[in-house]
Amino acid sequence: MGEKNEAILPPKEFMRRMPWIRSVDEYERLYRESIKNPEKFWGKQAEALDWFKKWDKVLDETNPPFYKWFVNGELNICHNCVDRWAEIQPEKLAIIWQGEPDEDVRTFTYDGLKQQVNRFAHTLKRFGVEKGDRVALYLPMIPELPIAMLACAKIGAIHTVIVGGISAEAVKIRIQDAEAKMLVTANGYYRAGKIKDSLEIAKEAIKDCHSVETVIVVKRIDKETHLPCCAECQKPVYSWWEQEMEFYDYDFPVECAPERMSADDISFLLYTSGSTGKPKGVVHTTGGYLVYVNTTMWYIFDIRDNDVFWCTADIGWITGHSYVVYGPLSCGATVFMYEGVPTYPEPDRYWELIEKYKISIFYTAPTVIRDLIQQGTEWTQKRDLSCLRLLGSVGEPIDSKSWLWYFENVGKKRCSLVDTYWQTETGGILLTTLPGVHSMKPGSTGFPFFGVVPEIIKHKESDEECNEPDLRRSQCSVGEMGKLMFSRPWPGMLKGLWKDPERFSKTYWHKFEKYLSGDGAVEDEDGYFWVTGRIDDLINVSGHLLSTAETEGALISHQYVTEAAVVGKPHKIKGNELYAFVVLGKEVDMDKEFQIVLVKHVREKLGPIYTIREIKFTEKLPKTKSGKIMRRVLRKIAAGEKNITELGDLSTLADESAIQNLLKE
Ligand code: WTA
Repeated sequence: MGEKNEAILPPKEFMRRMPWIRSVDEYERLYRESIKNPEKFWGKQAEALDWFKKWDKVLDETNPPFYKWFVNGELNICHNCVDRWAEIQPEKLAIIWQGEPDEDVRTFTYDGLKQQVNRFAHTLKRFGVEKGDRVALYLPMIPELPIAMLACAKIGAIHTVIVGGISAEAVKIRIQDAEAKMLVTANGYYRAGKIKDSLEIAKEAIKDCHSVETVIVVKRIDKETHLPCCAECQKPVYSWWEQEMEFYDYDFPVECAPERMSADDISFLLYTSGSTGKPKGVVHTTGGYLVYVNTTMWYIFDIRDNDVFWCTADIGWITGHSYVVYGPLSCGATVFMYEGVPTYPEPDRYWELIEKYKISIFYTAPTVIRDLIQQGTEWTQKRDLSCLRLLGSVGEPIDSKSWLWYFENVGKKRCSLVDTYWQTETGGILLTTLPGVHSMKPGSTGFPFFGVVPEIIKHKESDEECNEPDLRRSQCSVGEMGKLMFSRPWPGMLKGLWKDPERFSKTYWHKFEKYLSGDGAVEDEDGYFWVTGRIDDLINVSGHLLSTAETEGALISHQYVTEAAVVGKPHKIKGNELYAFVVLGKEVDMDKEFQIVLVKHVREKLGPIYTIREIKFTEKLPKTKSGKIMRRVLRKIAAGEKNITELGDLSTLADESAIQNLLKE
C-alpha cells in the first residue's frame, strides 16, 4: 500500500456524470445485484449488443472451470463493432490514425471502415480461409491491423495477433502452435525515427510453418520490397494487401454478410508468457468476451458520443484488443490510434497529439508515465490538455508519486483517474474505481467491477518451492498481503488454453474452483484493493509479462551455460528488469565480454524485449533440499540485499555456501 492512503474525491467539474451510476450507493446496490443474480445482471448488459439469436441460458456452470456464457446465443463481433454503427451513424469517425511522420494521417468513418473490412473479409475467403481457421496478424500499429481483425471476426476466422519486438523464433512458435493458415504482415513501420522491418522476421519465422498457405503484405513503407514468388518457394503464396483490396472496383460498395457465430465460438487466441516455458495461447469467446468489454467500456470509461478515446497500448497486447478495438468500437465510439513512441520527435509527442486530436479519454501505462515524468513537467505545460476528461492506467502497479503527477499535470485535477487491474486471461477490467463516482486512492485499483468477486488468500513466500502449496488457506485479514483470486466466473474470462485443457485447469484453477491470478494484493480498511505485483514466475517489465522459465531456457541453450535462474530487479521506470544468475560449465572467463555474449544470445532467441540487464556468474544456485531454485532469495539478492538474516526463511536451503558466495561478491 502506498504511504498515501487518503482518498481523493472524484472531480465533478469536468466529469459529465455517468448516466448509469451516480453514487457509491448505486454502485453498491448494482454490485450486490450482479453477485446475487449474475444471470439477470449479465442478461441485461448483453441487450446492448445485437444478437441474431437470443441465448437460452446466460451462464452454464455445470462443468467448472469450463464455464459457458449465453448458451446457444448467436451473434457476430464485427457486426456489433462495425456494421450496426455503419447503419446508424455512417459518417461518424470510427478510427483516426496518426502515423509517426506527421503527414501520415488516415481517418475511417464507420461506413468507410465497413468497406475496408468487407474487402478484406472477401480476400480471406478468396484465399480459402473459413470459419474456425486461424489467421496470424504480425502487423504494426497501422489501420490494417484492426481491419484484418474485424474481417476475421466477420467470417468467423480466429485471429492471433503477434506483437512486435519478439524474435523470429518466438513468432514461429506462435504460428506453429496456432497452425495458422494465413499470415498478414507489413514491409516495415516507423519507430522513433527509424524504419523497422517486419517482413524479414516474418519470412524467417515461417520457414518451418507448414500450415501457412498465404502471406499478405501491407506496403506500409514506400521502399522497394521483393516478395518471394511461388516459383521460388512453392508455398506460401505472397501477395500485396493493396492489390488484393483492389480486387473489387472502389466505385462500388462491397457487401459481406456476417457469419452467425455461437456465443461460445472462439473469437481469438492471444499468446502470453507462461511460468513453465512455452507461451500460452489464451482463448477468448465471442459472446461473453464482447459483452464484457462492451459493459466495462460503458461503465468504466463512461464513453459518450463526442469522445475521442485513446488507449496507447499496442494492439498486439490484450489491452489493445479490448480497448483499442473491440471495446470502443462495440460502443460506436471514435478511436485514436498512433504508430510511434511517446518521446519522439520531442518528449511532448503524446501531449501534442492529445491537443491536436482533442482526445477526451486517455488510457496508458505506468511505465509510460514514469518515462514522461523523467522528461520534465514543462512538456505538459506547453500544451492545452483541457480536452481531457478521464485518465486511465493499466499494466502494472502505479506508485502514488506517478499517480499524483499524472492526476495533477495531465488531468489538472479535473479528470478522474481510473487505475484498472486485469490480465490477458480476464478479457477486460476486473478491479477499478468508477469515474466520477468513487473517491480515488493513488496507487489503489479500487473495487471489483460488477459480477467480479475478489478474494485474498494467505500466502507463504516459500509456497513456490514446494510441490503442493496448501491453497485451501484462509482469507487474509484487512491490510494483509496474500494471493489474489476470483471466486465467481465473469463473461470476459478466458475459455481455455489453445489445445491444452489440462494446462488451463492446472495453471489457473489448481484444486480450487477459484481463478488464480498469480498476483499479490491487499484490501484496506475502506475496501480498496491494492495490487502488489506478480507472486509467480512471471516478471513485469514495462508492463509486459516475461517468463523466467523461457528466459532461463534461452540462457541454458547456450553451450557454456549449465544452469540459470532469472528474477526481476526493481527499476525506477520499467518497474522491473531481468537479472540472471548463471552457472557456467566449461572453462570460460566469467567476464563482461561473456555477459554481453549471453545477453545477445537471449535477445536473438526470444527478441529484444527479453534484454537481460545484469548477469551474475556463480558456481552454485541456492536450492531447496528437493532441488527447487529459491527464486525469492535470489530476488532479494538482485535487489541489493547483503544481509543473510534479511533473506527470509532459509530452513529448506540445501547448501548454505551457495548463498554465502552470492552475498560475498
Ligand atoms: C499486471 C494487461 C497492478 C498484473 C492488461 C497482471 C497490474 C498483469 C495492473 C497482466 C494494475 C495489470 N495494477 N498490476 N492496474 N494491470 N497489472 O496479461 O501483474 O499483459 O497479472 O494484461 O499485469 O498483464 P497482461
